[in-house]
This record gives sequence, structure tokens and C-alpha cells, in this order.
Amino acid sequence: MARKKKTEKPEVAKLILHGKEYDLPVFTGTENEIGIDIGRLRDMTGAITYDPGYMNTGSCKSAITYIDGDKGILRYRGYPIEDLAGKMRFSAAAYLLIYGHLPNEEEFLEWRRALTRHSFIHESQINFFDHFHPMAHPMNILGSMVSSMSSFYPYDAEDPNHIDLNIKRLVGQVKTIAAFSYKKSIGEPFIYPRTDHSYAANFLRMMFATPAEEYEVPKVMEDALDVLLILHMDHEQNCSTSTVRMVGSSQANIYASISSGINALWGKLHGGANEAVLNMLAQIHADGGNYKKYVEMAKDKKSKFRLMGFGHRVYKNFDPRATLLRSVLDRVLTEMGIHDPLLDIAKNLEQVALKDEFFIERKLYPNIDFYSGILYRALGIPKEMFTVLFAIGRMPGWIAHWLEMRADPDTKIQRPRQIYIGPTIRRYSPA
Ligand code: ACO
Repeated sequence: MARKKKTEKPEVAKLILHGKEYDLPVFTGTENEIGIDIGRLRDMTGAITYDPGYMNTGSCKSAITYIDGDKGILRYRGYPIEDLAGKMRFSAAAYLLIYGHLPNEEEFLEWRRALTRHSFIHESQINFFDHFHPMAHPMNILGSMVSSMSSFYPYDAEDPNHIDLNIKRLVGQVKTIAAFSYKKSIGEPFIYPRTDHSYAANFLRMMFATPAEEYEVPKVMEDALDVLLILHMDHEQNCSTSTVRMVGSSQANIYASISSGINALWGKLHGGANEAVLNMLAQIHADGGNYKKYVEMAKDKKSKFRLMGFGHRVYKNFDPRATLLRSVLDRVLTEMGIHDPLLDIAKNLEQVALKDEFFIERKLYPNIDFYSGILYRALGIPKEMFTVLFAIGRMPGWIAHWLEMRADPDTKIQRPRQIYIGPTIRRYSPA
């Protein structure tokens, strides 16, 4: 690629194809990331790019989250994650992500009031919980309930006030839907949200309180959940966020777009990984705790087994969220006096893998899911709810991306191309 100074001609990348040279415009982001604009590539050359998994493809320009995977940097709207997680409530960080700036006192109070006001599920929609299969996964319930919100709250997609109202409904209600789906699964009565609790405390109360007695949310749990939710809030163009943008690019409504993101998050290579981590730890525990055998299996090319909670598409150094979560986990376990044999297995796995050449060479470090599963377990959250918790945290991120996508004049309906490798023309002749 030829790089020139700003005063000279615009920077271009040169492509030579079949002996012919093409200029592709080059641009840089605010953190000096370089983009080669191939928007006209097919028109100019007849060729397309091939990039399975989109490892090298930028689908948009975005001002929400910055990640440097090699340096282990994660920032929301310019703020390092270390300045936000553990320093503020989830609702304040959610406001930052969605509206682009930290709220002043008045904005925060109004936002909190709105989230509380809109945390109640439409009473008719509550009946839906009765009709899911008793074994239904809560992610399935969450996705379906969010999708059905569009029939309860149809809105004018051109009116920003309508959109804003529905954003508040989504952030406010997601935790209530999540807690109700858990209560339904264990056959306990629903506990309604309260106005005098923080977002995290409200969720924990709806999960664990019963009408039979008073329930005070332990502060250590409320604080830990705030950190967990903030750490999960956004991670730029990951699978579920890209799904929200893709579905939204067809101008599908916000509920349809976000329920698609919830379904994408459910997969075990994405949000389902923390549940998979716990399953793996339980399996090792049941197998006599022989963690070394599983490390060997993960390295064996003939085995399909992978160490769940290790490796990341973007972080090839360390996952800053995992580092923060590890210290929260230590605090929770100490303050709550928890001893967990699965945690011992996790610590052993972590130590062995971090020193093993196979993992070092491939830059495979524990990711956020490695610790979040254990932390959720310490908070008393059943493993089927882990990915649901991820979805609650990710909601402001999905919303921020959906809004940004709609406001971006470059947005087009997303429609990747392919290289066809099937049979050339064949004829069918009726016998
Ligand atoms: N255990 C063992 N080997 C692994 C692991 C793992 N967890 N992850 C990657 N590898 C190996 C691969 O076998 C491959 O080896 P090779 O080069 O010899 O063929 C190499 O490391 C690169 O792996 P890729 O799959 O190409 O890496 P990619 O960046 O595409 O995948 C992913 C990232 C999906 C996260 C992967 O590391 C993985 O499957 N991890 C386990 C699941 C997990 O923890 N997911 C959570 C991701 S974080 C999140 O969604 C919030």
C-alpha cells in the first residue's frame, strides 16, 4: 500500500489484478486504524473479496466502542472500561453508550425514572409465560418475548420520540422478562420491580425474593452484577451486534432486530460460552478432576474438544474484561465465604493452559466467559440464565448500534456476495 502525506493526493491502496492496476481509497479512524474502501471494487474489476468469518472486513464506521485486541484495550465512547466498571451503576453506563455522553444528575434521574417506569411488562404479555414448554431455554423465552413486544408497542419508526420510548422499554423490561422466565421455570410467583432499587438490585430481587418474606439484596452481589453488566455492554461488531445491524438494515423494527441479536448471542461460540465453561468444569469434576486430560484433548487435532472460555477472535493478548472480572470474583468469593470445587478446577486449567506452548503460540487466554460463569454461579444464578444475563448487559450496545446504523448515511441493506462453487449449468429432461 502506498502511504502519502495529507497535503498530497488522497491516500490510495494499489491493487493489481490480471495485470491491470486499480486505486482503492484509503481512510483512517481516530485511533489510526486503516480502512481500504472496496465499495467500488466489483464495479471496477468484476472481482469481490473473500473473507470467511469477516476477519478482515469492516462493515461500518462506528463511534461507540474502541478495541485494540493486541494491547488489551476496550473503551466505550472513549472511556477505558477500567474507568467505568466498578465506578458507576449500569444504568449510567448504559446512558453513555446509547446517548454518547455521561448523564448529568438531572439526565440520570430522568433516565432512571424512565427505566423503572418502563420495567413493567404489559399484563397481557405476562400470559405468554404460561405457554412456553416447561423445559424451554430462557434465551428462547427472552428472544420470543422481545420479538412479541413489537405487537404490544407498535411505533412510528420515523418519530425519534417513539424510538426513544421503545429504547427505554427495551432496557427497562429486559431484566423483568429475564427474571420472570426464571421464576416461571421454578414455579414461583413473579416478583414485580420496585422504584427504590438500582437496576442490578431490582433484577436480583426479582430473581431471588418471594412474597413470603423480606429480601434484602446483598451489596456485594449488586456491585458485582453492575460490573458484569457493564463489561458485557458492547464489543463492537461481534456476531450478535452485527446481526442486529444486519436485520435492522432492512428497516425491521427495533424489537425484531434485537430479538435476532438475542438468538445470535445464544450460540455457544458467542454468549453461550459461559454456560459451556460451567458444563466443561462440571464434566471435569465428574471425571475425577483430571483437568490435564482435558488440556491434552484441547490440543489434540483429532479431537473436536476446545477449552471453553479460552481464546478470542479479537483479543490476542489478554481480555481486559477477564482481568477486571477475576478481581471481582475474588472479592465475591471472599466476602460471601464461598468455596467451590469447580473454581479450583478452573484455576488449575488457567495455570496449565497459560504455561502451555500450544496456547501461548496461538495466543489463547482466558476470556470474559471463563470467569463470568463462575461468578454467576457464586451469585446463585443458574447456568441456563448465564447467557440471559449477557443479553441484559448487551442490550444498550445493541440499541446504540441500531441507532448508529439508522443515522449513518452510508447504511445500505446488508447483502454480502459469494463465490459460487456449485455445478455449472445442468439440464433436466423429463423422462
Ligand atoms: N481450545 C483449544 N484450541 C483452540 C481454542 C480453544 N478454546 N480456541 C482456538 N483454538 C485453536 C484452534 O484449534 C486453532 O488452532 P490451529 O491454528 O492449530 O488450527 C487456533 O487456536 C485458532 O483458532 P480459531 O478457531 O481460528 O480462532 P478464532 O479467532 O476463529 O476463534 C473463538 C475464536 C471462537 C473464541 C475460539 O477461540 C473458541 O472456540 N473458543 C472457545 C469458545 C469460547 O470461549 N467462546 C467465547 C468467545 S468470547 C465471547 O463471545 C464473549
